[in-house]
Order: sequence, then structure tokens, then C-alpha cells
Amino acid sequence: MSKILVINSSLSGDASVSRLLVAETVQRLLAIEPDAEITHRDLGDGAIPHLTSATVAGIRAVAQTQAELTAQALSDELIAELTAADVVVIGAPMYNFSIPTSLRAWFDHVLRPRVTFAYKDGAVQGLLTGTRAVVIEARGGRFTDGPTKWMDFQEPYLKTLLGFIGITDVTFIHAEKLGSGPEARELAITTAKTRITDVITADFFSVLEV
Ligand SMILES: Cc1cc2nc3c(=O)[nH]c(=O)nc-3n(C[C@H](O)[C@H](O)[C@H](O)COP(=O)(O)O)c2cc1C
Repeated sequence: MSKILVINSSLSGDASVSRLLVAETVQRLLAIEPDAEITHRDLGDGAIPHLTSATVAGIRAVAQTQAELTAQALSDELIAELTAADVVVIGAPMYNFSIPTSLRAWFDHVLRPRVTFAYKDGAVQGLLTGTRAVVIEARGGRFTDGPTKWMDFQEPYLKTLLGFIGITDVTFIHAEKLGSGPEARELAITTAKTRITDVITADFFSVLEV
């Protein structure tokens, strides 16, 4: 049975476009594989703490104090969820040209030496193989082309973070110009939904087994 990890990070609740499109993506995946097991990890409102000295000691060295052991346990839990997943669906709003700090905190717990990445012969090796990602990017402006493309620190960053731990099969779905009024918003949502249908095809899960 395939496993799907669903990560949301928008702080806009029911008004969130990324949450809407993440739900649409999950619905589409379930239409293809109704028995897939789903794990939800909601990062809104500081669910994952930002790094502290205890976290760094706990997940990058040998955990000793209670605070370090607690940090290590959370990192273990998040990595176990990700490792178990065949597909991870990530809702990533653009906040200040990058990702929400809550999502960054999740990555801070998941990028872990010798557990999710390692160095061999001087080169980095991502240790998570066989995991596929679908990333929903919601943005107020337009960054896929045009004069503001260079300001996109969201997609290259997410691609780098995921690739660093071995998740290189990443599909990005954009909802752009969400800040340009209701018509632009509706168009962005409809366009993104069409793309979800186009990219999540009947063989989506079987591609993983190749
Ligand atoms: C704190 C914050 C920062 C934002 N920064 C940007 C930005 O740098 N560029 C942009 O195009 N939109 C920005 N926006 C707009 C969001 O990307 C847009 O509202 C998007 O719909 C958020 O995703 P969501 O609907 O899933 O919450 C920002 C919104 C918030 C709340």
C-alpha cells in the first residue's frame, strides 16, 4: 500500500490557496490509489520549533540532556514519516520571496547528517531514494517568468533542500498572481487544478517502482 505524507504550512486557514490545492492533489492521488495511507503534518502556528542550541546538539551531535533528547525524538519522528512516504505533498506559500519559517523549521529537523544525507568521496549523497514530491507553490505575484523571476527564492530553495536529501523527482505546481484580484485568483486556481490533473496520471505510483 502506498503512503502519502501531506505537509501544509500556510497560516491563512480556510482562505489558503496552497491548502486548497494540496487537498485537490491528495484527492487526485486517492482517485488513482484509494487505499493509499495518508499522514498529515500541519506546520502552521509553530508546530515545529525553530532551532535552538539543544536541537543542534541533539540532531547534529550526540544527544545528552533532556532538551537534546526531546529535539532528537522530534527529528526522528519527522524523518520516519518522510522515509515511510512514497509521495510527499508539500503546500508552500511564498512568504517574503521564500518559504514560511515553519517549513524551514521542518527542513531543519529533517536534513540530518548520516541519517538523510551523507558525504562519500567528497560528494554529498541524499539518502532518501524512491520518494517523489509534489510541491504546491502559492504566490501573490508572478515569478515563473518576467522581471521578478530573479526574486524567486522559493522554488530553487525547495528544489535544493529536497534534492540534498535525495528527493529529486519533484513536481512543482504554481498558483501565481493571487494578489491581483478575484479574477486573477480564480484563474490561478483553475490553472493549477488543471495542471494537477495533467501531472498526476494513472501511472503516478507505479513510476516509483521503476
Ligand atoms: C507573511 C507573508 C509574506 C508574503 N510574501 C510574499 C512575497 O514575497 N511574494 C509574493 O508574491 N507574495 C507574498 N505573499 C502573498 C502570499 O504568497 C499569497 O497570499 C499566497 O496565497 C499565500 O499562500 P496561501 O494562500 O496558501 O496562504 C506573502 C504573504 C504573507 C502572509
